[in-house]
Amino acid sequence: MSGAFEQQVQMVSIGGPGIHRQVLYDASRIQQVSEQLFAPQQFAQLDIDANTTGRAQVVVHLYENRQLVSKHYHRGGMAAALLGDRYLGRSAENSRGFREWCMLSAMQKQGLPVPVPIAASRIQSGLWYRADLVTELIPDAQTLADWLMREPVESAQWRQTGRVIRRFHNSNVHHADLNARNILIDISGQVFLIDFDKSAFRKTGKRLREQNLARLRRSLDKFARQQAGFHFSDSDWRALLAGYADKA
Ligand SMILES: Nc1ncnc2c1ncn2[C@@H]1O[C@H](COP(=O)(O)OP(=O)(O)OP(=O)(O)O)[C@@H](O)[C@H]1O
Ligand SMILES: [Mg+2]
Repeated sequence: MSGAFEQQVQMVSIGGPGIHRQVLYDASRIQQVSEQLFAPQQFAQLDIDANTTGRAQVVVHLYENRQLVSKHYHRGGMAAALLGDRYLGRSAENSRGFREWCMLSAMQKQGLPVPVPIAASRIQSGLWYRADLVTELIPDAQTLADWLMREPVESAQWRQTGRVIRRFHNSNVHHADLNARNILIDISGQVFLIDFDKSAFRKTGKRLREQNLARLRRSLDKFARQQAGFHFSDSDWRALLAGYADKA
């Protein structure tokens, strides 16, 4: 966590002919807002193939010498064919990107391990909008799913993962989609939660906590069923639960 962190939240509108983009950004992290932030033409050479993961379109790039991750929100499932990247709504505060940005910002202020929010944007078109989010790249990190496809994760690391999830629950963060691709672990073993789309601060009682953990367990089981040699066992899960129960 950066000690001298002081966020300066700014709102601007940018765009060329036919595009009107509303942008919320942290002026302590970037100086200029341009289309390049959201539709980068220069990609960083990094060991991340983010385009092949979730529904969103994610690109890693360099901007003002920072390694950034730009995510363009996209529908999943059945809605994808029908709506593509369009969302209904006219208010900036309720748009996908702005909400995730604000949530990241609040969690970061609490010292929770999440990506640093840089900018969020929306482009309105009639009743619909399209949305983007830019965060700082968490360097040298892989998703838990990627680690497990390659090699087993040590019991102490599972325990640590459980502890981190517990910290979020203790701060009343409800992650709407806690799965093995939304947990990042860097080479030093630090654990981050990412992808807070549709997530919220909300009193997380016992039932909600259990549901959240059960969602993660289902995702790990699904990977294990689908990928031969996926390194996940009951004892790993017990280690995670032991970390979750740690009194720290
Ligand atoms: N700040 C970041 N640092 C490093 N990697 C990131 C960062 N943000 C995203 N990624 C990578 O990009 C992938 C996709 O990002 P994210 O989970 O936010 O969207 P998504 O899963 O595609 O969206 P959805 O859950 O709606 O399908 C992550 O699984 C992770 O590999
Ligand atoms: Mg994701």
